[in-house]
Amino acid sequence: MAILEIRNVSKFFGGLAANSDVSFEVNEGMIMGLIGPNGAGKTTLFNCITGYYPPSKGEVVFDGKRMNGLQPDKVCKLGMARTWQKVRPLAKMTLLDNVMVGALCRTNSLKVAREMAMEQIGVVRLEHKAGFLAGGLPIGERKKLEVARVLATRPKLLLLDEVMGGLNPAESEDIIKLILDIKAQGKITQMVIEHDMKAIMRISDRIVVLNSGEKLAEGEPQEIVNNPEVVAAYLGTE
Ligand SMILES: Nc1ncnc2c1ncn2[C@@H]1O[C@H](COP(=O)(O)OP(=O)(O)O)[C@@H](O)[C@H]1O
Ligand SMILES: [Mg+2]
Repeated sequence: MAILEIRNVSKFFGGLAANSDVSFEVNEGMIMGLIGPNGAGKTTLFNCITGYYPPSKGEVVFDGKRMNGLQPDKVCKLGMARTWQKVRPLAKMTLLDNVMVGALCRTNSLKVAREMAMEQIGVVRLEHKAGFLAGGLPIGERKKLEVARVLATRPKLLLLDEVMGGLNPAESEDIIKLILDIKAQGKITQMVIEHDMKAIMRISDRIVVLNSGEKLAEGEPQEIVNNPEVVAAYLGTE
């Protein structure tokens, strides 16, 4: 069953079509990879999906509901959570407090939020850093903080925007394992934007390729790597 339907979504910035008539569905429980060269419109599509801004045309239906420029707290309550390509922790708060902010989407109790936050900090294996200020954490741990914070909102759909960007191979491997663990638990659907082709091939059930705002291809990882148009537009430039 589709948890997310993207129907003919276009997003214009002045004369520029950052997304142009993009359609696809994401089925419950799967990992959908989203790839494409820089400027292809991947982050813009995440912004349209999460209601950060409404699409100029088309619609996004999540869990049977139309998302249309909804406020972020509403989006979170509906069960959608995303990370940002540029990590934005609350630098002067501790790791624990940052993750509690996510949990407070589901509860008004600080005690419950703290428990929920600690659970997710355990999932990303940063218990030993819970009391550290977020601003002082190295990039790999700040990325994990972001993942813990979105997990603490108890999402149905998780959207990860280049969550491995800037990480070393060992840190990337940790994130890959985390994404696969989340899938194995079977409760959360994931959409993943990632530049590392090996990583995206390993984790994705299906992949959508964007190029200049348009959907260039969609299919299983093996179909995508063997698609001559994709190779020419994207893989060939690696
Ligand atoms: N808020 C915005 N205002 C104007 N142009 C934007 C805005 N956001 C993105 N763009 C443009 O839209 C295009 C797609 O950007 P983006 O979605 O960030 O691509 P990607 O994430 O695939 O690298 C780029 O040309 C970018 O400059
Ligand atoms: Mg981007």
